[in-house]
Formats: sequence, structure tokens, C-alpha cells
Amino acid sequence: MTELAIIGGTGLTSLANLQITRREVVHTPYGEPSGPLVFGTLGGKEVVFLPRHGAGHTIPPHRVNYRANIWALHNTGVRKVIAVAAVGGIHPSLAPETLTVPDQLIDYTWSRASTFFEDDLSHVTHIDFTRPYAESVRQLILNACRVAKLDVIDGGVYGAMQGPRLETAAEITRMERDGCTMVGMTGMPEAALARELELEYATCAVVANWAAGRGGGETIEMSDIERILKHGMAKVRTLLEHAVPLL
Ligand code: HPA
Repeated sequence: MTELAIIGGTGLTSLANLQITRREVVHTPYGEPSGPLVFGTLGGKEVVFLPRHGAGHTIPPHRVNYRANIWALHNTGVRKVIAVAAVGGIHPSLAPETLTVPDQLIDYTWSRASTFFEDDLSHVTHIDFTRPYAESVRQLILNACRVAKLDVIDGGVYGAMQGPRLETAAEITRMERDGCTMVGMTGMPEAALARELELEYATCAVVANWAAGRGGGETIEMSDIERILKHGMAKVRTLLEHAVPLL
């Protein structure tokens, strides 16, 4: 049985080291996922891969059908999800190209379909979300980094912003006051939906840029982000290959 799903973020729309065996189009009660599920072998085991923004990177963060994606992955029978995400670094330790595995999050997103528990309920359900990421999957990512000899920063607070625009410097200052160490646009509601379906889920974040107003830059250039992510995602591919045998 396939145990692990990988959700690819910006810069990771395909896994070059994945030996693809089949693609599966899934229709869910919540609509269409970002694309067909891609099954293949990686590090000797079968995994399922789904690029969050679509195979051609055309779906912006606020338009991703997070419910359909998580439902489709859950429907395959996987128990664990590694969610790869590009972030902006707020904390001085999170320079571009750094890999990090957050252990907390703050949700600033709005108007996204953010729960499976709203219609046809027999009772109102509130999931526990004290620790939003599964420690089992966080440790899997951290151990894979150790084996692959990749530097990684353990822990941090992921601030999920609405996007698709980047933040103002003042917004980043507010997020820093709140305790955020990194900022992204896709971490929520994805993490909460995974918890609702009892999937063990953690994020492997790749710092693509200094967050707005940090690191001495005046503006954030997409061309710089693309260049950094090319290197960062190469590390992620190595990490993932080392993670699978540790399952
Ligand atoms: N802000 C929000 N999301 C991001 C950033 C950022 O600076 N970089 C990569 N994803």
C-alpha cells in the first residue's frame, strides 16, 4: 500500500527522481484536485505526488482546491503527507535556500473553504490543533536531512497569508511580533484539512526569499525567487529520496 503522499509547491511541480507508474484522475465530493495523482516509486517504495498549483503551475494559492486535494490523497489510503512549500524568511536564521520544518503555524488566510465538517453533520466537530504538524512526519523529514547530510532548521512558526501578492514590510513586522518566523501562502487550510481526515502531515519549507523588508532588499524579484528555488528544490528532491526508505 502507498504510505506517503508528497504535495509539491512552487518550484516542485514534478519529481525528476520519481519513476512514474500511473496517473489517476480523481473526482471528489469537493470538486477537482489540482491535477491527476501521480503514482511512482521513489527510494524503492511507491509514493503518490500531487503538485499543489497544478502540473503547469497555474493555480494561485487562494484558488487551490485544498479540500479536493486532501480528500483525494486520503482516498488513496496514504497515512502520511509531506507538504513542500516555498516561504519567505522572517527570522534572521532563515536565509534564502534554507530548509526548515516548522512546528507551529498562524493562519491569516480568509475566505478559503477550510473544513470538511460543515454540511450534513450529525454533530459539530472541533479537531484538536494544538500541535498542527505531525511529529512523526516532522521527524521523518529531519532524519532524512540527517542521512542526506542536508542542513535543516528544526522548528519555527509558519504564517499563512492570503496572497497572491507578497506582503508589505509592515505586515511582516506585525507577523514577526506575532511570533512568525516564516511566511507562505499555502500552509492553511491544508494542514487543518489533513488533521480533519487524520492524516499525519508536516511541512518541509524552502526559503525562497527574505520576507518583505528583511535581508536588506528593497523589492522582491520573482526571477530571484525562481533562481533560489531551483537550488532549494534540488535539495528537497534529495531529501525525499532519503525519506522514503525511512518509512
Ligand atoms: N511571502 C509569502 N509567501 C511566499 C513568500 C513570501 O515572501 N516567498 C515564498 N512564498
